[in-house]
Amino acid sequence: MGELLRVNNLRTYFKTEAGIVKAVDGVSYHINEQEIVGLVGESGCGKSVSQLSVMQLINPPGKIVGGEVLFEGHDLLKFEPNGPEMRSIRGAKIAMIFQEPMTSLNPVLTIGQQLTEMLVLHMRMNEEAARKRAIELMSMVGIPAAEKRIDDYPHNFSGGMRQRVMIAMGLSCNPKILIADEPTTALDVTTQAQLLELMKDMVQRFRTSLVIVTHNLGVVARYANRIYVMYAGKIVESGSTKDIFRNPRHPYTMGLLRCVPRLDEEEGRKLVPIPGLPPNLINMPPTCAFLPRCSYKVEKCYKEVWPELSPVEGDTEHYIRCYADTKERVSEPAKR
Ligand SMILES: Nc1ncnc2c1ncn2[C@@H]1O[C@H](COP(=O)(O)OP(=O)(O)OP(=O)(O)O)[C@@H](O)[C@H]1O
Ligand SMILES: [Mg+2]
Repeated sequence: MGELLRVNNLRTYFKTEAGIVKAVDGVSYHINEQEIVGLVGESGCGKSVSQLSVMQLINPPGKIVGGEVLFEGHDLLKFEPNGPEMRSIRGAKIAMIFQEPMTSLNPVLTIGQQLTEMLVLHMRMNEEAARKRAIELMSMVGIPAAEKRIDDYPHNFSGGMRQRVMIAMGLSCNPKILIADEPTTALDVTTQAQLLELMKDMVQRFRTSLVIVTHNLGVVARYANRIYVMYAGKIVESGSTKDIFRNPRHPYTMGLLRCVPRLDEEEGRKLVPIPGLPPNLINMPPTCAFLPRCSYKVEKCYKEVWPELSPVEGDTEHYIRCYADTKERVSEPAKR
């Protein structure tokens, strides 16, 4: 599979009165054609900001202060955020389903107006063809009586149905990449599962790569081909979904896995939350940000700066950012 997007050393900071929040601090990753990538981590670790940066949707006091976003032979960060190049990419070649659906749907326009607008703008359809396609898209994502519902407003739809509209809208211009930021967290688990299943089917049908952003490892286990685990503005572990679940090697990933309920495990396994809280992203020490919460720490962790990502021995796809030797201790419960 060819590579579609490569992000190198992305850094996005927010200048606040309390200091500089390093929300995304040296993030690198890539997305291949037609694959599903999971981006996982606790609240506040920089998942949304990293994805909004790729789309150049960062507003003051935030600023992308460094890095590259390579897509179709260009570094997107060289383009003006509101210039013609970014406008022709955003929504059309790289689309995003935002964390808050109500903020991304315009409440005073009907769903049809919003869907057809995209099709007219990016796909150069006339009004009639766009309306027809919009109804088709709404049916595809399972909205009953689409030809009627198209003239309803966002508030006429339930949360689950609104997310279906968002999926339809995300895929309407046949993007190369769809980024779904916590697409289902506000919904009940049954609806969540249905929507994830729908999203998987839809991206296969459209041959689109999907980035699922979530704090729930359980969600990506089932859908992602590869996973990036993020902590305090950095990727701390990446690998195939199999690597991450069968052979997790960063203590943070191991901790996350201990608090995910799993069906394939022996009965009586205790769910152990990771002790402590994620760090404040202002005035971060140069050492590993997970150190205060880590039960595998070694002396070196206190003395040296947080290491770069390096391959787990012998595996060209599995990377961690850690000094500790976690190899033999994978199934051991965390010491408290
Ligand atoms: N406008 C802003 N001003 C100051 N800090 C901000 C701003 N927006 C985001 N941040 C900070 O950037 C960090 C990363 O935020 P981000 O929204 O990317 O987290 P996240 O991983 O998506 O979390 P969640 O799972 O809750 O969605 C957080 O610490 C947040 O406080
Ligand atoms: Mg977020």
